[in-house]
Amino acid sequence: MSRPAVLVDAFGRRHTDLRISVTDRCNLRCTYCMPAEAIFRPREELLAYEEIARVAAVAAGLGAHTIRLTGGEPLLRRDLAALVALLVAVPGIDEVAVTTNGLLLAEQAHDLAAAGLRRLNVSLDSLREDVFERIARRRGLDRVLAGLAAARRAGFAEIRINAVSIRGLTEDEIVPLARFCRREGFHLRFIEFMPLDAEDAWDRSRVLSGADVRAILEREIGPLVAETAGDPGQPAVDYRWADGGRVGFINPVTRPFCDRCDRLRLTADGQFRNCLFSTTEWDVKRLLRGDGTDAEIAALLRECVAAKKAAHGIDTPEFARPARAMYQIGG
Ligand code: 5AD
Ligand code: SF4
Repeated sequence: MSRPAVLVDAFGRRHTDLRISVTDRCNLRCTYCMPAEAIFRPREELLAYEEIARVAAVAAGLGAHTIRLTGGEPLLRRDLAALVALLVAVPGIDEVAVTTNGLLLAEQAHDLAAAGLRRLNVSLDSLREDVFERIARRRGLDRVLAGLAAARRAGFAEIRINAVSIRGLTEDEIVPLARFCRREGFHLRFIEFMPLDAEDAWDRSRVLSGADVRAILEREIGPLVAETAGDPGQPAVDYRWADGGRVGFINPVTRPFCDRCDRLRLTADGQFRNCLFSTTEWDVKRLLRGDGTDAEIAALLRECVAAKKAAHGIDTPEFARPARAMYQIGG
């Protein structure tokens, strides 16, 4: 299918991936994402499913063709499968994915698959309940594992596991996670800790780089071979062990992939963002709830794309953290 290529920014990057946060609420309190005591948006400020689907249709008309639903924890929104079904039906959208912490997956995996969801990312940083709780400030490992098993029974072809790496905290989790994923056939990806936590605890010295994680895996499990470059828009670098199993690294801090970024974001309260690290937002809720036309929504999205910066600049002296933390933006 030929696609319109309208969402091209000043640096020639084409935007095809829309990340939609459906709620800022979460049933965990991961230290790298949320404060211990979070204040959430009132329900009426969140976009309704029909509003989200309308934005998705406008974005699809401008060339977006993949959607990822995030949060907070997206499975906390009532009947998320109904939203998946609406989005799968949007002309031009050919893939809908969800990133979840997995706590409610055992109950919902079947309905999500039946609604047309094909891709699932589950966040899991540790296989030990005490470490899980230290990171997430809540218990829940058993439920995540039950959720993963249910997801496999529901027939998801590829289930990815995202693990955030933090120096001084997750080193001992790396090898057990990798062995578990190799045995179970999950595709594990390690993500470097980004300055998007709510309590401003991020510091460059706490970034455990993908290269360091890889060195630990090679020492403890065996040599890794880089896979031939797949999708150039993919920020992950994937590797394989000769005797089977893949592992990937998403290195936004040590190896920024901004030059290939194809992502746009819609927050749960109806703001477009052109980057995780945007300090500006474009208010689409005002158009949705006023009498804004689809053409006006399209113009706003193009304005957001046109203003996108070349790179996040985490390592530059001018870098300023966004006012909102990860759970308010969407991962
Ligand atoms: N740095 C890196 N990854 C993060 N995530 C949440 N906060 C951060 C952060 N500060 C991850 C979650 C989840 C995805 C949505 O983003 O673990 O896998
Ligand atoms: Fe919740 Fe995900 Fe943030 Fe953890 S990273 S608090 S699971 S939204």
